[in-house]
Order: sequence, then structure tokens, then C-alpha cells
Amino acid sequence: MDIHSDRLLTRLDELARIGALDGGGVQRLAFSDEDLAGRNWVQAHLERLGLDIRIDAVGNLFGVWQPRVPRNEPGVMVGSHTDTVGRAGHLDGALGVVGALEVLESLMESGWRPARPLILASFVNEEGVRYMPDMMGSLYHVGDLRIDHIREAQDRDGISIGQEWERLHYTGMDTLLDVKPDTFVELHIEQGPVLESLPADIGIVTGVQGLSWYEVTVTGASNHAGTTPMHLRQDAGVVAGRLAHLIRDLPNEIGDLRLTIGSMDWHPNLVNVIPDRVRFTIDVRHPEEGRLVHAERCIESFLAAEDNVSWRSLARVAPCTFSPKVVEAVAGAVEAIGLTGHRMISGAGHDAQILSRRLHSGMIFIPSRDGISHHPDEYSTNEQIRNGVRTLLHAVKHLAS
Ligand code: HGY
Ligand code: MN
Ligand code: MN
Repeated sequence: MDIHSDRLLTRLDELARIGALDGGGVQRLAFSDEDLAGRNWVQAHLERLGLDIRIDAVGNLFGVWQPRVPRNEPGVMVGSHTDTVGRAGHLDGALGVVGALEVLESLMESGWRPARPLILASFVNEEGVRYMPDMMGSLYHVGDLRIDHIREAQDRDGISIGQEWERLHYTGMDTLLDVKPDTFVELHIEQGPVLESLPADIGIVTGVQGLSWYEVTVTGASNHAGTTPMHLRQDAGVVAGRLAHLIRDLPNEIGDLRLTIGSMDWHPNLVNVIPDRVRFTIDVRHPEEGRLVHAERCIESFLAAEDNVSWRSLARVAPCTFSPKVVEAVAGAVEAIGLTGHRMISGAGHDAQILSRRLHSGMIFIPSRDGISHHPDEYSTNEQIRNGVRTLLHAVKHLAS
């Protein structure tokens, strides 16, 4: 039994055309028309395979394959997400969903039958760039995010998720209560430089580092840039710059800390007007909960020391360790196929990190060229893609037998 590589690669290209941007890259921001088009594309394939289609109250899409298994067997879930960041690559998320589709179709064609229900999952809003927090669909699925919190979330234009759900008829009423998945495997690109540098074919992912996102708002007083003496100003930009500098130096004190000030907007953002408001985000990551908390405390002490500074948490996900059952299934698959594997933790957040709170979870990584991701130059070779999907096939067969 094997996968059909041409079919797999063709489908990845098809999905990459949904939300394709002129000048390269893909954009399917959560709860946008392109995002729905991507989900509909997946749904059409699940229907073609005769799977039982489920769409839940926040728009997570599931396809259930349950041929003649005893109804009380817990299910094995595979999948990822099809939403993207802005001007994204074509593999982040998509590889895990299209790879899972290829695995189910190949298993069906081979005549093999699972001893447990097999569920393909495509979770909404994993990226969290338009609506926060990230991993929103999987957080709802595990019961850690309330639907009213999700419905009320607004994007930068003040459009709420609830309004987008209405406009796109995006949500359903289905659940997975009858198939009770207890295992989740996610195939994903590494999005970093480790596997390529070793080199190794497959990342046997043992866990995911923790993340904490903040939005900081600095307020001041707007005035004329030419007439206002420096000592009479309340320049929000000066405070924001000082804070950004202080915060950005934290990784020098806390080893393995990764800290990014990825977005900053100024108001009124005009060349000859002193800014009266600057808003910026902080993305903090660390593999150990204690160090992540320490970094958060340092950041919040810097912010608290300033007048006219407020902040709120946008997302907070603790580091996780994956289930040995799934990690060893992945390692066994790598061995069976004759690939080289490397045990590692993930630098990026993933749905599997959230699912691991309730299910035996694990991940399979393939190398990313130059470690690039969240960028149109995101790339893995056809061979690396094939290796990842073959590993997923073997692991799923083992876990669902
Ligand atoms: O931010 C992350 O790590 C993920 O891509 N949402
Ligand atoms: Mn992803
Ligand atoms: Mn991503």
C-alpha cells in the first residue's frame, strides 16, 4: 500500500490556487471568502470519498470514516488547518489537511479497514492573525474557548466573527460526540531550519514550546511637530520605542526565549504630528513554562513602570509534551519506511498543541527550505512531501488498527 504522489501534489497545487496573491503567496485569512473557498474545496473531496461530513458551531470541518467498526471504539483524528497568515506560503496547514486526505483515500483504495473510526479534521483560524487567539478552532473543540468569546472577536476593521459567520453561512450544528476521538496526528512543515541542517527526513515531534501574545497601547497627546517644544510633549512614540527596545533585549537575559514585536501602528501616523497613540504586539515563546512566566513578568514590569501604558493578553498557550503512544507510532513509521528521523520540539504553535490537552497527540515534520515559513518562499521538495505523507499513512494505520 502506498500513496499516490501525483494526486497529492496536484491537490496541493489546487488548494494553493485558492487565495493565491498576484506576485506570489497565498492568503486565506480566517472567516474570509477565500477561507470558506478553501474549506469548501476540502469538503468536496470528503464528500467524494463518501465520508460523513460534520461542521461544528465555529466552522471546524470534519469527515468521518467509520466502516463497520464497533460504535464504542474511540476515533483517530488526522488533519490541520487551511487558513493562512497574510501573504503566506502554500504548505503551512495545507500539507496536513491534503496529506490526511491522501492517506484516507489511499487506505480506502487499498481495501484496508480501520478498527476505529478515522476522522479528518480541518480546524478554523489556527493562525490567529485576523482574529485572536490563534488555534481558535481547536481551542473551541477541546472546550477551552467559549463560543460567545469567539463570536464577539473583531478584526482591525471592526468586523466581528459573528458577522462573518452570518455573511458566509459558515457554521454548523454537528459534533463528534458519537466517535469520541482519543488520538490526533498532525503532519506539518517544520517552518524552521533544524531538519535541513542535520539533515533528517522527518521531525518526530515530542512537544511544542509555549507562547504568549500581548497587545500594548501607549497613549500621549497629539500636537504640531514644529511648534511644540520637546519638554512640553507627551509623545507616545518615544515611550513605545523605549519599551520596544527594553523588551527586545530580554532574550539576552533569558536563554532560548524568542520574542517578536511583529506589528506596531501609530496614530495619527502623520509626518508632522506628534503621535497620541501607539499600539504594538509582543509574541513571546519558550519551551519551559517557568521561563515563559518569568519573561511575562519582566515584560509586565516594564509596562507597569510607564504612565499611560495599558496591555492585554491576546493568546496564551502553555508548552506541551506529546503522547509517547503517538510519538512512538511516528518513530516506528519512520523506521518502517527507512527514513531518517530526528526527535525535536516545535517552535511554532499548532492545533496538535491544543488537542494534546484532551487527546493522545503528536506531529510529523518535514524540512522547510532555509527554514522559511509564513512567507511566499515557503518550500519543501516533492520527495520531502511524499516522505511526510507516507509517514502519516504508516502512523495512522498503526494507531487505527
Ligand atoms: O504562531 C504560530 O506559531 C502559529 O503559526 N499560529
Ligand atoms: Mn500551521
Ligand atoms: Mn502558521
